Amino acid sequence: MTFNLAILCALEIEAVPIINSLQLSEKQCPFDKRLGFRFFASARSEICLLQFGKCPKNGIDRIGTQIAALAAWETVKTLAPAVIASVGTAGGFKAKGASIGDVFVSDGKICFHGRHIPVPKYKSFETGDFPSHIIKNLGVLKKGRVSSGDSVPISKQDHDRMLALGTDAKDMEAAAIAEVAYLANVPMLAVKAISDFVDSSEQTHSQFMANFKEATDKLAQAMNFLISNNNFG
Ligand code: ADE
Repeated sequence: MTFNLAILCALEIEAVPIINSLQLSEKQCPFDKRLGFRFFASARSEICLLQFGKCPKNGIDRIGTQIAALAAWETVKTLAPAVIASVGTAGGFKAKGASIGDVFVSDGKICFHGRHIPVPKYKSFETGDFPSHIIKNLGVLKKGRVSSGDSVPISKQDHDRMLALGTDAKDMEAAAIAEVAYLANVPMLAVKAISDFVDSSEQTHSQFMANFKEATDKLAQAMNFLISNNNFG
């Protein structure tokens, strides 16, 4: 198997429109079965998608940096893709002019906003600052700063850190995948569709439920565009 692109998705509802749009079909996952990931691939095996699967303890889709790092490591070790992508929904910022369904392709550093270690020598480790693979043909997609943390609600420290980083898309996986990709020397990017606003008084979950269909449809269109325009070999 020589995949040009491995797409990593946390939620099944993020993965399904992409699977349909790229006509991927489910195959036996080549990873350790105990991890419970789901694996989809294109007919000629150029593109694959890993969905993080269900938590065996409580049956919900697994999200966050731990499962993302495991999925990324298994992907680079077993599948050796040319490029790895963290693809999903994210929180955006009204104050920066974002709209629901905007899709951001990572630009510049991919960072942790939720890792706070106030020790001088850990300053750069805290945020990670991992490189993002440069995409030549973006069409109308926006470039933006993607940052990650393991919480949906944000603390004052998370807020200040996102302000300092210039975050456009707040997610829970990209920086962990970027860290593994950096370690394995595999080009990595994040593609994130805005499903809710971080700077809103409305609860994130109710925003997400109202908007995820629009956001995930736009995400699938964006992936189709990026792949059809030869960004991945
Ligand atoms: N995914 C979608 N919306 C999110 C948010 N507000 N924070 C983290 N991950 C998200």
